[in-house]
Amino acid sequence: MGRRKATRRSSFPSMEIVIILSFLDLFAPLAAEILPGSVLYASNPNQTWSSSNNTFFLRFIPATTPTARTTTNFSLAITYGSSIPIWKAGGDAAIVDASASFHFLSDGNLCLLNGSGSLLWQSNTSDLAVSSAILDEDGNFILKRRSMSVWSTFDHPTDTLVPSQNFTTDKVLTSGLYSFRLLNNGNLTLRWNDSIMYWSFGWNYSVSNTDLRNPVLALQSLGILSLADPMLSSVVNMAYCSDFGEGDNFRFLRLDSDGNLRIYSFVNGSGTVCWTGVSDQCEVFGYCGDMGICSYGETGPICRCPSENFDPIDPNDSRKGCKRKMELKNCPLNATMLQMDHTLFLTYPPETSTEVFIVGISACRSNCLEGYSCVASTVLADSIGQCYMKTSNFVGGYQSPAIPSTSFVKVCSPELPNPPPSLPNEEDKKRKGLELPSLIVVAFAVLSTMMVLVILAGGLWFCCCRNNPVFGGRSSQYSLLDYTSAVLVQFSYRELHRSTRGFRQKLGAGGFGAVYKGMLANGTVVAVKKLEGIAQGEKQFRMEVATISSTHHLNLVRLIGFCSERKHRLLVYEFMKNGSLDHFLFSSEDESEKLLNWDSRFRIALGTARGITYLHDECQDCIMHCDIKPENILLDENFHAKVSDFGLAKLINPKDHRYHTLTSVRGTRGYLAPEWLADLPITSKSDVYSYGMVLLEIVSGRRNFDVSGETNGKKFSLWAYEEFYNGNVKGIIDKRLCEYVVDMEQAMRAIQVSFWCIQEQPNQRPVIGKVVQMLEGIVEIEKPPPLNAAAGVSAGGASPMNIGSSMTVLSISAASCPARSASSSLQAAGIASFASGMDVGRPSSSILQRGSE
Ligand SMILES: *[C@@H]1O[C@H](CO)[C@@H](O)[C@H](O)[C@H]1NC(C)=O
Ligand SMILES: *[C@@H]1O[C@H](CO)[C@@H](O)[C@H](O)[C@H]1NC(C)=O
Ligand SMILES: *[C@@H]1O[C@H](CO)[C@@H](O)[C@H](O)[C@H]1NC(C)=O
Ligand SMILES: *[C@@H]1O[C@H](CO)[C@@H](O)[C@H](O)[C@H]1NC(C)=O
Ligand SMILES: *[C@@H]1O[C@H](CO)[C@@H](O)[C@H](O)[C@H]1NC(C)=O
Ligand SMILES: *[C@@H]1O[C@H](CO)[C@@H](O)[C@H](O)[C@H]1NC(C)=O
Ligand SMILES: *[C@@H]1O[C@H](CO)[C@@H](O)[C@H](O)[C@H]1NC(C)=O
Ligand SMILES: *[C@@H]1O[C@H](CO)[C@@H](O)[C@H](O)[C@H]1NC(C)=O
Ligand SMILES: *[C@@H]1O[C@H](CO)[C@@H](O)[C@H](O)[C@H]1NC(C)=O
Ligand SMILES: *[C@@H]1O[C@H](CO)[C@@H](O)[C@H](O)[C@H]1NC(C)=O
Ligand SMILES: *[C@@H]1O[C@H](CO)[C@@H](O)[C@H](O)[C@H]1NC(C)=O
Ligand SMILES: *[C@@H]1O[C@H](CO)[C@@H](O)[C@H](O)[C@H]1NC(C)=O
Repeated sequence: MGRRKATRRSSFPSMEIVIILSFLDLFAPLAAEILPGSVLYASNPNQTWSSSNNTFFLRFIPATTPTARTTTNFSLAITYGSSIPIWKAGGDAAIVDASASFHFLSDGNLCLLNGSGSLLWQSNTSDLAVSSAILDEDGNFILKRRSMSVWSTFDHPTDTLVPSQNFTTDKVLTSGLYSFRLLNNGNLTLRWNDSIMYWSFGWNYSVSNTDLRNPVLALQSLGILSLADPMLSSVVNMAYCSDFGEGDNFRFLRLDSDGNLRIYSFVNGSGTVCWTGVSDQCEVFGYCGDMGICSYGETGPICRCPSENFDPIDPNDSRKGCKRKMELKNCPLNATMLQMDHTLFLTYPPETSTEVFIVGISACRSNCLEGYSCVASTVLADSIGQCYMKTSNFVGGYQSPAIPSTSFVKVCSPELPNPPPSLPNEEDKKRKGLELPSLIVVAFAVLSTMMVLVILAGGLWFCCCRNNPVFGGRSSQYSLLDYTSAVLVQFSYRELHRSTRGFRQKLGAGGFGAVYKGMLANGTVVAVKKLEGIAQGEKQFRMEVATISSTHHLNLVRLIGFCSERKHRLLVYEFMKNGSLDHFLFSSEDESEKLLNWDSRFRIALGTARGITYLHDECQDCIMHCDIKPENILLDENFHAKVSDFGLAKLINPKDHRYHTLTSVRGTRGYLAPEWLADLPITSKSDVYSYGMVLLEIVSGRRNFDVSGETNGKKFSLWAYEEFYNGNVKGIIDKRLCEYVVDMEQAMRAIQVSFWCIQEQPNQRPVIGKVVQMLEGIVEIEKPPPLNAAAGVSAGGASPMNIGSSMTVLSISAASCPARSASSSLQAAGIASFASGMDVGRPSSSILQRGSE
């Protein structure tokens, strides 16, 4: 712990260090104990109470709420570094002026007073015989009676949870009207106004309906949100940061003022979002205020009013909601229902249980019109046709072309629908939309672009699988803009036909259909996949597409849009400049410029595992890939791995994954777990098997099923295990790497992990999250047991392996080489030197402007 802290601090940007040092000079901060009688003044924001290593400070900071953000408003906060608040006295409600003060009174009470002496917040600790206070190196401000802690800010959180802070069922994070709680069953929940529960995230489907004894939620400093309980045999990992395990980043969980729960990761003073609770911001209840309708625009969610019958309450803040131009009570005989297609009014528990009717569309409309207290209604276009009557005084909507629901709002006649986007006419729209000045394009896109939505027919709203785009701290080309604009675009077939110039340039042909290169009107280069053998109807297709598009991870290829028109089903992905991994692993000798160095290989292996982890672990609807192989691992211009083709197995034929996946990997059976062939249940461990084979190939540069004289007529994977068993790790590593630096410790880890993954018995294989940790060296790797002996390994257990000693030897020198001339072109191989000749698109940095018909 101590070591981590120390390094974390030393990785501060130098500017901050300078500032901190200047504090030292000016104020000689009270590094250790703070004694009763001490006072902080807002008039001197440089004055702080700091933790002993100056990692955290208690101080006045400029208020951060948008409305109060002026130079004269302050909050009393504990900050990480100089300015990142992790706790605020009284939360965002306690905003004070520049003459405010914070007292640690001699009776042990903490008080926040504003300039006129009004008490805004107090700790109520005057009866606890407090003798001193300390801000510790975890960011906890503790009141002590002698050496015993009697009160701490960790026990009174505001909107943030930091590592080593325990969160229990009696605690709550709040931000405005939103609150975050841990339930007794281990579910994480978000509520609006303490009633509407718009998000409930269970740690395990099958048991999250039984209560635990004393669940404790904690964010590990590695970036994993985990749950512990006496009834659980081990800690359950509920969520992973996209950069978990990387670096000494400082991470924290925060309930943001937009009602979303996020984990932030800070390194060198700059922070990124590395996990998002509600992947679809428009599903946050009340995000757009009363009568506000949420939809997605170019830069993220936007709020609008249902029609011209409404005015925004605050033209400068669309999130405040809308008010009627004429109140319903003023037109008792003349009300009408305004119809809104592709719109639903959010309905969450406890509302869901009370106001549901199963009636047709027209009855849903007329019942609300006649119902005195009904203000709006929504028909879910599921097969059941549930009708929700909204009688509450707070209604929030969500509009998206992907939503099949129709909604009605009661308004005074006449109904005044919002004007269509400012384009001349329908026919021109299609063509001109592409060339028009960006402003109009944006306006058009706002209406026509699509956003993710999964409405499961059974009313299951809390699908977590759609975590927002996440971007790693270091390498990402994603900007904050991309993160918010998770806009899925619906294309017309004609459009895609045009952007691929009639499907001319074929990039490849996978099991699900051929892939073509294309360029969108805005210049974005894309890969267009023409799906074949679609067994699904339009609605199911859209739902699957929504699910796929909502899985955002640095190591997953991003879906930009789709087309579903008559028989045509196409998916539009970001274009990956460097193509698929197999071209690099299995290139022939004379293509030496395609050789990947060890660092790149290891990073690709890790990235791939992270991408699969995201698919498996971070979804309640675990997405099994079912077809992991080098051909489905794509490389971007920086040689970062991106897994592609996930979610398709289900799309092609939901009733029979098996058949289609089998045919789709025809010819590359080497990656199929034995259970596929043995007609046993397919689980996520089947993906782990495939990954293990790919990992072995990344290390060795050879197909796992290659058979040659060199491998004694055995499959390469079995031969490799024998070599490993006999201590010849070097023999497994790609011979073409022999002249280059290979981190033998990493290689050893990778090889062992691969043998764990390709165990015959699924339960012998680690889960993919563990694979990541093993590769990273976070967890110890035990000696992998022999592979299936029946399959040809004679590793009978005669000579015990001595991994430890062979490693010491190995890590000193890289693999030795047979004499071979080094070509200088190899020197630069690995990253970025490989000129592909393809034009570089602007993958994912620009979002599309075209929309649906
Ligand atoms: C503070 O920093 C010193 C040296 O940098 C380190 O030895 C010590 O463990 C740190 N203290 C804490 C509480 O982390
Ligand atoms: C706080 O510190 C900054 C920089 O060290 C300095 O410019 C500023 O004048 C100080 N403010 C007060 C009130 O001392
Ligand atoms: C913030 O400051 C402004 C002007 O200085 C003041 O009008 C406003 O009331 C303050 N806000 C709060 C929440 O105190
Ligand atoms: C101090 O707080 C009281 C009560 O909240 C308020 O009436 C008063 O205006 C505040 N004074 C200043 C200077 O902000
Ligand atoms: C202190 O007591 C007051 C009044 O009972 C209460 O409003 C406030 O929330 C308490 N403060 C804390 C930190 O519990
Ligand atoms: C959090 O809980 C763990 C065990 O559940 C305990 O060891 C640790 O001291 C707790 N931390 C705090 C700050 O209470
Ligand atoms: C929040 O709930 C309270 C009572 O439960 C209610 O009085 C209040 O109007 C609600 N707030 C909003 C904005 O609807
Ligand atoms: C817990 O979450 C799961 C989904 O993750 C949900 O099915 C279940 O109903 C939730 N339980 C409660 C009590 O909210
Ligand atoms: C969920 O809990 C059940 C019962 O404890 C357990 O058998 C199962 O493996 C768990 N599933 C996951 C994904 O953790
Ligand atoms: C942070 O800063 C340190 C030193 O200034 C540097 O070595 C490190 O690479 C930086 N980390 C990131 C992620 O930028
Ligand atoms: C909106 O902003 C404008 C200019 O920034 C200002 O003049 C106007 O008063 C604001 N309106 C509201 C309702 O705050
Ligand atoms: C009802 O609304 C129409 C306009 O749609 C208006 O012409 C008519 O006068 C209204 N009737 C009453 C009774 O308000």
